[in-house]
Amino acid sequence: MRQIFYISRSLIEPADIRTLYEHSRRHNGQADITGVLMFTGGCFAQLIEGPAPALQALMERIQADPRHGQVRRLLDRDVTARRFADWHMELFEMPGADDLVDDLLQTTSVSPQRAQRVLELMLAELPLRC
Ligand SMILES: Cc1cc2nc3c(=O)[nH]c(=O)nc-3n(C[C@H](O)[C@H](O)[C@H](O)COP(=O)(O)O)c2cc1C
Repeated sequence: MRQIFYISRSLIEPADIRTLYEHSRRHNGQADITGVLMFTGGCFAQLIEGPAPALQALMERIQADPRHGQVRRLLDRDVTARRFADWHMELFEMPGADDLVDDLLQTTSVSPQRAQRVLELMLAELPLRC
């Protein structure tokens, strides 16, 4: 099982977020991929997990997607279990995390430990929004 956490700068029209979310959920369901997409307004942060080949193929499509830029992989690792076994993709709007992700996009080097802390911080917010 592979897990990727990346951040990027949004270039999407906010009205198109819903379409992106619905497409992602459908496709991820077919590809056995789970995770969460966090939209801060100016940036995206996404956790995706699943079989390595399916995840790699998805990541290549995501990286080429013109609806965002500066895609930066913060974590890319093997894991023994999924964080989100039931969510093929859930979308969370997190305007409060916009500065945090923006700062990370401008930082030259982000250690895995720091990336992990940011991920935990963002995921800790999610139950508040379910
Ligand atoms: C921030 C962001 C997150 C995305 N996440 C996913 C995803 O989890 N699953 C997915 O299938 N597509 C996702 N996409 C869309 C892909 O980049 C791509 O448009 C889509 O997979 C193409 O699907 P198609 O080949 O069926 O047209 C995402 C795009 C963006 C901009």
